Amino acid sequence: MKLTVVGGGSTYTPELVDGLARLREALPVEELVLVDPAADRLELVGGLARRILARQGHGGRVVTTSDLAAGAEGADAVLLQLRVGGQAARQRDETWPLECGCVGQETTGAGGLAKALRTVPVVLDIADRVRRVSPDAWIIDFTNPVGIVTRALLRAGYKAVGLCNVAIGLQRKVAALLGVAPAGVHLDHVGLNHLTWETGVRLGGPRGEDVLPGLLAEHGDAIAADLRLPPDLLGRLGVLPSYYLRYYYAHDEVVRELRTTPSRAAEVAAMERELLRMYGDPALDEKPELLAGRGGAYYSEAAVDLAAALLSGAGSPYQVVNTCNRGTLPFLPDDAVIEVQAAVGAGGGPVPLPVPAVDPLYAGLMASVTAYEELALDAALRGGRERVFRALLAHPLIGQHAYAGPLADRLIAHNRDYLPWA
Ligand code: G6P
Ligand code: MN
Repeated sequence: MKLTVVGGGSTYTPELVDGLARLREALPVEELVLVDPAADRLELVGGLARRILARQGHGGRVVTTSDLAAGAEGADAVLLQLRVGGQAARQRDETWPLECGCVGQETTGAGGLAKALRTVPVVLDIADRVRRVSPDAWIIDFTNPVGIVTRALLRAGYKAVGLCNVAIGLQRKVAALLGVAPAGVHLDHVGLNHLTWETGVRLGGPRGEDVLPGLLAEHGDAIAADLRLPPDLLGRLGVLPSYYLRYYYAHDEVVRELRTTPSRAAEVAAMERELLRMYGDPALDEKPELLAGRGGAYYSEAAVDLAAALLSGAGSPYQVVNTCNRGTLPFLPDDAVIEVQAAVGAGGGPVPLPVPAVDPLYAGLMASVTAYEELALDAALRGGRERVFRALLAHPLIGQHAYAGPLADRLIAHNRDYLPWA
């Protein structure tokens, strides 16, 4: 099996390699190709990847290249994990929205729109070049904003699935609270990427007993503290929101905090410098503990599990993925991309499990963010200040023309180098 990682020079890659080594039975990868334009990073990350595999007795070959076509040729699956503009662009996304009183975040709100506009054209170009050399390869997209990027890929007819680690992270946390193995916890997960709620926590599978009410009664305070939301709010929702919901439920509070604390991009950039220094040490042959400080915990498990299911029918039968709505949530358009549990067998791709009626409390937010995503994709594909303005005006965290106008101008001014139309 051949797996190609675009953005393979990412400091996250050792996490993935560690997962490949541990889970080799489910996904026997013979060749792992790391593709990245940054040759210096490739050398550091590729070297460590080889040492991790060797230490764990994995016979797989690691190839590094900056040539996408060569790297993707004959691949069974291609993982996209790139960041157009790097942490410097993220730093700007996290900063200028705050000037207008809006959340500055890499995937939520105006910063997320900037990331979408920079990223969608690049990902579509990559997908096109991949399809020429490997028409049957699955594209697994980790590249944020995953909902919008996956929608772009699916609309253009690619065999793509979007993936995020929020659900698998929650599954691990909930399993620890319940004192059971993670594989025994099935989350009733509903929403859009980075806008999700667990409406049930079932033991053993999709038809297992729902233990969410008991979990909230017993551990609600600890969960609320972890989410940094008031415990009584959690009780009133009666479901488990993802931590991205704090940007909505506590927007103004988050803005006040972000204005007085260093950006996450700056923190991550410092961590990355240190990680790359460590990766250069020939004695290092495992993923360093410092990597656990990044948000992507368990992404390797999610990626390996999904690739195994798509390619060979191994892996968990149900997984949380980003895929086409096609009536699953009847209040959203069929071509919207939703993040839900799906049956993921080899061959046909993910088939969402049926979702019971969704409370308007969540459905309303999903509907408006879906409309925003549609407009965001339109702006990313066709450009123009007016399309940027329309997407911002539709976003439930922005909404007012007095914000959307100045935000559109700032977004364009800060991203000119990445927007051919600007
Ligand atoms: C979570 C999200 C990812 C995001 C990451 C950011 O894992 O699901 O989509 O990229 O957090 O983590 P970072 O360490 O870059 O702040
Ligand atoms: Mn994510």
